[in-house]
This record gives sequence, C-alpha cells and structure tokens, in this order.
Amino acid sequence: MPVESPASTEPLRDALARPLRDLRISVTDRCNFRCTYCMPAEIFGERYTFLARDEILTFEEIERLVAVLVPLGIEKLRITGGEPLLRHNLPQLIRQLRDRTGIQDVALTTNGTLLKRMAGQLRREGLTRMTISLDSLDEDIFHRMNGEKLSVAAVLEGIETAAAAGFAPVKINCVVQKGVNDHTLVDLARHFKGTGHIVRFIEFMDVGTRNGWDMKQVVTGEEIAGLIGAELPIEPEEPNYFGEVARRWRYADGSGEIGIITSVSQPFCGDCTRARLTTDGQLVTCLFATGGTDLRGPLRAGASDDELREIVRAIWTNRHDRYSEERTAILAEEGEGGEREGRVEMYQIGG
Ligand code: GTP
Ligand code: 5AD
Ligand code: SF4
Ligand code: SF4
Repeated sequence: MPVESPASTEPLRDALARPLRDLRISVTDRCNFRCTYCMPAEIFGERYTFLARDEILTFEEIERLVAVLVPLGIEKLRITGGEPLLRHNLPQLIRQLRDRTGIQDVALTTNGTLLKRMAGQLRREGLTRMTISLDSLDEDIFHRMNGEKLSVAAVLEGIETAAAAGFAPVKINCVVQKGVNDHTLVDLARHFKGTGHIVRFIEFMDVGTRNGWDMKQVVTGEEIAGLIGAELPIEPEEPNYFGEVARRWRYADGSGEIGIITSVSQPFCGDCTRARLTTDGQLVTCLFATGGTDLRGPLRAGASDDELREIVRAIWTNRHDRYSEERTAILAEEGEGGEREGRVEMYQIGG
C-alpha cells in the first residue's frame, strides 16, 4: 500500500462543498452504434480516426489511478465508453478493480448488444450493476436514433441475459427527443412494467458539439411523467441515496418504478459528486467541460501516488462546475450553440 500524506485523509470538498464520490471511467472511444446524439454516422464513418492503442490507458494504469483516488472519497465506479464491451478483456478489468482497489460498487453502462456472450462472466468477475441504453422498442425509431447496424431484438436479448446472469434490477436508459421517440415512451414503460427492470427517461442534453441540440427538442421531466402517468398511474418516490440523479416514480399498482433524469429542466449540480476519466486519461469534472486535466502524462512520466493524488486534489478543490444550472443564462447570453465549441464529447466520457 502506498504511504499516504497526512492531508489526504481529510474529506475532500470542491469550491461548492461537494465531495468526490463517483468516478466514471471510459474504457474505449469506439462504439458499434451510431446514435445521432452522440456519434452521428456522417461524422464517424469508416475513415474516422479513433484513439491509437498507446494513447489508451492500460488496465494497470486505470487500476493505479483508481487506487490513488480512493483515499479522496471515491466509492462508486461506472465503466462507460463508447461501448465498453468493445474493450478487449473487459471482465478482467472488473476483476482487477474489485480485487485491488477496495471499491465495492462497480457499474457498467452499455448498449447491451454484446452482453449475450459476456453477462455471466462480468457478473462472476465482480460487476455489481448494469445499465443498458434503449431509446425505443419501435425498430424504425431505434434505427433512426441509434444507427442502422443493430436491432431492438439484440438489445432486448442483452437485457434478458443480464437479468438471467443475476443483475437485478437492470436499469434501462432512454434518451427522450421531442418528435422522435416521445410517442413511444409509454410502450417502453409498459413493456418493462412488472419485470423488476427500471426504465429511466433522460431529458435530451446539449452534451458535446455534434448533436444539434436545441431546447425545442427537449421533453421535460414533467411532461414525461404526464405522458406515462396518463396511461400507467405513477406516484413520486423518495430518493435511494443523497445525490441520486434520477427522480423515482413508483407505479400506483405496486408493479415497480421508473426514473426521470431532468438535467435540463431541474438540474442537480448542487449534489454532483462525479468525476470522469476519459479513455486517454484526462480527468474531467463536468459532463459539459471544455477540457480535462491530463493524468496519463504524469502517470507515464513516473509520478508517485502522492503526486498524482495531489494533482486531483487541487483540481477538485478548485472545482466550480455547475453548467446545467447556468445553462439558461449562458444560452440567453451566447445563443444556442455559442458556448459548445471545444466541449468534451459524450463518446469520450460515456454520460
Ligand atoms: P446510479 O444511480 O448509480 O444507478 O447511476 P446514475 O443514475 O448516475 O446512472 P447513469 O450513469 O446511467 O446516468 C444516467 C444518465 O444521466 C447519464 O447517461 C447522463 O445522461 C445523465 N447524467 C448522469 N450523470 C450526470 C451528470 O453529472 N450531469 C448531467 N447533466 N447528467 C448526468
Ligand atoms: N442527452 C441525454 N442522454 C444522452 N446519452 C448520450 N447522449 C445523450 C444526450 N445528448 C445517454 C445514452 C446512454 C448514456 C451513456 O448517456 O443514451 O444511456
Ligand atoms: Fe454508442 Fe452510447 Fe454513444 Fe450511442 S450513446 S453511439 S451507444 S456510446
Ligand atoms: Fe455535474 Fe456538470 Fe452535470 Fe452539473 S452539469 S450535474 S456539475 S456533470
């Protein structure tokens, strides 16, 4: 075990008094989907250059960074991408993180299509929770939003394999875009009602620079709750824990719950305890940041655990991020799209 400096045992707080609790780790910038709101096919064609192998953090490097950050307060890890299951030997990384960092909660966000051959192994290697993206059960809408290559059936099969492997509940993330999939939300909710899985509807966000977001494409959480509740009565439910991103709603007939993530209409920056590590080792402190701090450079140059920890401590101590709370004022001042130049992309940080 590395020797800790005395200061590192103090609880770390950012400039707005928020602790550092969660680390979201992107393990690849590649994906087998081409969601229009993340990796539009026109841009991410065959000639697009993804990161080269030596630019990507190795499993040992990821494990080392996590171990270094644990004393600063990290309790939860979420593995993301791109599509994380495209990273060779991912179950081995889960095992390393569980065995060597002391973290008890390791979750995965995936599009589900590669789970058929991997869900059991992921579970055995210590993955604790599973979130699978599915925007619509309607094949045409699915293709329009997520690209032409795969099918709804492949995602549903992934969800069932995950459940059979022991992940319970499986969370299902649905990005809601007005005029695109909003008329299919009730079908999605109904399909999973009573199964134990939890569908979470996410307000479409202005992440990255390439999804052509504007406010007119957002269906607010209140509207989403209205649409679902009109057909399947729901009641508000208490949060599971401090800082939970999704607002919980339970079905009035006791057959389960849904979540609604209102980052646009009711931002939750005040409780934001999340840091993100990009595939190439930059630490990003907000989903809407225009850049991160390189940790791979110092890591590969031989920095000690204490030196790496002090870099992160300094970043977190100076953190002021609260973009979603400032969005309305920024848009009013700069116009939609004005502020987006240079923003980190969703496929680099995985949501
Ligand atoms: P658990 O509660 O641990 O299960 O996870 P979670 O609710 O954080 O789930 P997940 O990581 O699946 O987050 C769901 C979606 O919420 C993400 O895909 C993002 O679209 C959005 N989201 C998560 N964290 C943030 C955040 O810090 N800021 C904003 N604006 N959106 C976020
Ligand atoms: N707005 C809201 N959610 C998004 N996701 C990706 N891009 C956006 C966006 N612009 C979601 C994905 C996935 C998770 C990683 O983030 O659908 O569930
Ligand atoms: Fe892939 Fe997820 Fe981005 Fe869709 S949102 S392109 S599944 S990384
Ligand atoms: Fe956290 Fe930034 Fe999202 Fe606010 S906008 S909740 S600070 S990641």
